[in-house]
Parts: sequence; structure tokens; C-alpha cells
Amino acid sequence: VYTFRREATVSDTYGSATTELADIDWDNLGFAYVPTDYMYIMKCARGGSFSKGELQRFGNIELSPSAGVLNYGQGLFEGLKAYRKEDGNIILFRPEENALRMKIGAERMCMPSPTVEQFVDAVKATVLANKRWIPPPGKGSLYIRPLLMGSGAVLGLAPAPEYTFLTYVSPVGNYFKEGVAPIHLVVEHELHRASPGGTGGVKTIGNYAAVLKAQSAAKAKGYSDVLYLDCVHKKYLEEVSSCNIFVVKDNVISTPAIKGTILPGITRKSIIDVARSQGFQVEERLVAVDELLEADEVFCTGTAVVVSPVGSITYKGKRVSYAEGGGFGAVSQQLYTVLTRLQMGLTEDKMNWTVEL
Ligand code: COI
Repeated sequence: VYTFRREATVSDTYGSATTELADIDWDNLGFAYVPTDYMYIMKCARGGSFSKGELQRFGNIELSPSAGVLNYGQGLFEGLKAYRKEDGNIILFRPEENALRMKIGAERMCMPSPTVEQFVDAVKATVLANKRWIPPPGKGSLYIRPLLMGSGAVLGLAPAPEYTFLTYVSPVGNYFKEGVAPIHLVVEHELHRASPGGTGGVKTIGNYAAVLKAQSAAKAKGYSDVLYLDCVHKKYLEEVSSCNIFVVKDNVISTPAIKGTILPGITRKSIIDVARSQGFQVEERLVAVDELLEADEVFCTGTAVVVSPVGSITYKGKRVSYAEGGGFGAVSQQLYTVLTRLQMGLTEDKMNWTVEL
């Protein structure tokens, strides 16, 4: 699906004013992997600190079969996006938040982490080196995927002796195949994503492998994704496989509180602030599954999914529908518009959330 128009070099792209775009179908981007030109790699020994990061041609990496990440899942990932503005400038959304979340996750997973500055510099360098892969304005974004992994060899269970921080990018459009149309969720009440004291609150790779079984079963039945309940009471909403969830009732917006089993989404946090700035009451609390029956609107948030309206939720065979008109509800539409205009640099950034490259 993609071809190189010519070999790009870092010096071509770095800081250059070139408007050249990669030769792909920008009108039909989904959320599929597209290999790009460069990735950023930085290493660190156990007990040491990261240094000497560098851009390399994008490609496969070599790992010992005994690498900590392959054997014991010692790994974390992040996700953020870069947008191309009409004036040609490139804009990032709250990259320091991803850096801080990776630091917290690294502590939980017994890994060293890059400093916030190293993380943000790596992200900027990777984006600039792959500038021709940033979609034209309005066509999507460049998804940035920083990874942190135990790359050193271990056999007995222990933290790996070496760590690799790697950042790569891929152009993306809508996450769900529904596009911007409402998604259909099913509540999972047997399998759980996270448990108290576990790792549900950090972005460790195993949390995502753990949901594949329920997600695959749901997709086979025609649902878009799965909504998980807390594993203690099997009653309170947690999150969807790849995003956080919000429920709107009588213009009050509620979302499950962060308590260790829910991923503290940066889009989640931003939507809460945007909603409050727009005059909405927002509650972070326990949200019981029964509240879905009464809700006016339900929507999901995440870097990949942005703000996605939910069209229906099925719980124990009973289906509740929202967004009957087939699109966003009024509240989620308003929040989506305010947030995405900010992220794309279309409105003044009074929050000081965006970083221009
Ligand atoms: C993101 O939204 O960036 C995520 O990391 C979720 C992932 C499953 C695509």
C-alpha cells in the first residue's frame, strides 16, 4: 500500500521546509501498521541511566530469545499523536504527560525510564525524521509509539540487565472500523482486565494481551469492543480494551475514578478539563453498570480512539441503545469538537497543552 517516492534522509527531513508527502492513500487511513523511515533507540543498563539515544533506519530489532520482555513481559508502551497544521507546522499534544506516565509505569515494572526531557526529545526527533508520513491536515495524524522494554537476557525471574527505549511512528486515521460512527460494546462479566494491586493502572504490554480473548469473542459476535467490570464486585465500570469510558446523564458527565485498575488516560484527563471549562459537572467515581440503562450518552476516550460515541451496550443479553440518530450525542459532540480543534491547532491553546515543532 505504500511506496517510497525517493529515499528520505534525516537531513532532508530534519528542520527542512519540505512539503513532500509519502505516496500513500491518505483518504483511507485506518489504524493499520504502516512502516515509516526512522525509529529512535536508546539503551540503559540495570541500575544505570539512559543516554546516547539515536535515530536509526526503521526496521526489525535484534533481541536475545532470553530477553526479559519476551519471557516475563517486562515492557511498557505509550501512545501519542502529531498533527500537521494548515501552515505546515507540526503539533504534539501533551507529550510530557506520556513521559510522566511511562516513568510511573517503569517504577511499577522495575525498569529504569528516560527522563521527561529525553522522552520528549526522542518523540520530537522521531516525528521530524518521519515528517513525510504525517497526514495532510484533516486526513489523520502520525501515531507515535514509544516502547520501554527489558531487552537484556534473563533466565530466572528477575529484572532484565539491560533496557531499550524505542520510539516509532505510523500514520493513522480512525481507530474503529466504524470510522466516526457509534461503536457497539458488550459488557464482559467473566474475564477481567485488571485486579486491585495488579498492573491495570500502568500501560504495561500484558494488560493488552490479557483482553484479546474477550475482545476476539466480542468481535466474532459483531461487537466493536468490550467493556470490563471491576473484578471484586463485578458491578462497576472499568474501561474498554483500548480506551476509557464516560457516561452522560442530565448533562452530568461521569467516569470511573482512577484507583489502580484503570489506565489514567491523557485524553480522559483532558476531556474532564475541557468539559469543566465548558461548564459541565464532571464526576470521577464508581459508576455502576446499571447506570448504563439510564444514560443519555456514552462515549469512549483515548489517544487512538480520540472521542468515540457509543451506539449500544449489551449486558447479559440486554441491549441499550444511545445516539439513535447514528452519530454523536450533543455533549460528546461538543467535547470532541473542542478537544480535536485544540489538538489540531485550529483554536488558541489556552490550556498550554500543545507543543509546536
Ligand atoms: C492509545 O490509545 O494510544 C493506546 O495506547 C491504545 C492502544 C490499544 C491502541
